[in-house]
Amino acid sequence: MRLKTLSALALSAAIPLSSAQTYSDCNPTEKSNCPSDTGLDSKQYTHDFRSGADKSTWSATSESIQYTSAGAEFTISKSGQAPTIESSFYIFFGSVSVILKSAPGTGIVSSVVLESDDLDEIDWEWLGGANQEVETNYFGKGNTTAYDRAQYLPMEDTQSSFHNYTVLWTSDYIEWIIDGSVVRTLNYADAVDGQNFPQTPVKLKIGTWAGGDSNNDAGTIGWAGGTTDYSKGPFTMTLESISVVNYSPADSYSYSDTTGAWRSINVHGGTVNSNEGGYASTSGGTSGTSSSSGSSSGTITGTGMWWTASAAAVRASSAAAPMGGLGVAKAAIVAVTTAFVLMMTM
Ligand SMILES: *[C@@H]1O[C@H](CO)[C@@H](O)[C@H](O)[C@H]1NC(C)=O
Ligand SMILES: *[C@@H]1O[C@H](CO)[C@@H](O)[C@H](O)[C@H]1NC(C)=O
Repeated sequence: MRLKTLSALALSAAIPLSSAQTYSDCNPTEKSNCPSDTGLDSKQYTHDFRSGADKSTWSATSESIQYTSAGAEFTISKSGQAPTIESSFYIFFGSVSVILKSAPGTGIVSSVVLESDDLDEIDWEWLGGANQEVETNYFGKGNTTAYDRAQYLPMEDTQSSFHNYTVLWTSDYIEWIIDGSVVRTLNYADAVDGQNFPQTPVKLKIGTWAGGDSNNDAGTIGWAGGTTDYSKGPFTMTLESISVVNYSPADSYSYSDTTGAWRSINVHGGTVNSNEGGYASTSGGTSGTSSSSGSSSGTITGTGMWWTASAAAVRASSAAAPMGGLGVAKAAIVAVTTAFVLMMTM
């Protein structure tokens, strides 16, 4: 499977481009006979990649992913590589935590994506050229016309230490959580009265790709932070472990109509939100979750919780411009550029 930039849609608003993988084999809001989605039948799934792959749960791209004592290593060393794993199951509300160290390299994008068949999407993204920030983003029904969804949160070095990145996704709100602290909240009503709120069963896609590949269009390269120089590689993202809670354990999910509304989803062999509020049991702690000592930005004082103040500042800012130096550059670039469509080809 390769990520390939396919087409461009001219849009006039200032759009922080994301990796919105706006492609679906069968989009149930456009077709009525899409196959149903395999559900995660249990309340939770956890896997520690330091003990190796879980091939019964994840399908991997053809690029080799190395399983080492550090975890699953997604490495890009040359053009065309996009090592990615994708879950065989879908969940319908719940939480997803990854213990992860993002990849270095200008233009290299590390990403954790929850994506539904009708292109609802909840994202974490890290740019290799910006090791002191993480992007949070979301999409509803493949709608890429908003200008204020992406938020860039300042962090300490995301590439040298593992952190626990969690998405808590309910039918009312979404929280992005880093090492146990909520850094962003999206309420249903705040996403265009729910219209843009992710609310259909999602599968998980985790991997790296080179947004800065010189074959990509200028908009993509600009969003990714510049052209990738493969001679500086290899560039590796490391996924130590994952834990997933499914609020609606079931055999499968299907869309009863083309609205893409969560109440229209049929839950086969289960009930929607029967496990709401469930937590993943943690097994013996983690080697990840490094502590932070002081702030690199120099603007945050007192608590030592570098993200709390930063995130509050981001939340308080209703401006379209993303935070951070690179974010400003990106905002300038994307203001005049185009949205792109990433097509996953087998
Ligand atoms: C897409 O999102 C924008 C704002 O983000 C909203 O104004 C528009 O109505 C949405 N389009 C659809 C078809 O929902
Ligand atoms: C990651 O953070 C979530 C949310 O705070 C927590 O429930 C989970 O136990 C953490 N995972 C690990 C392995 O520490």
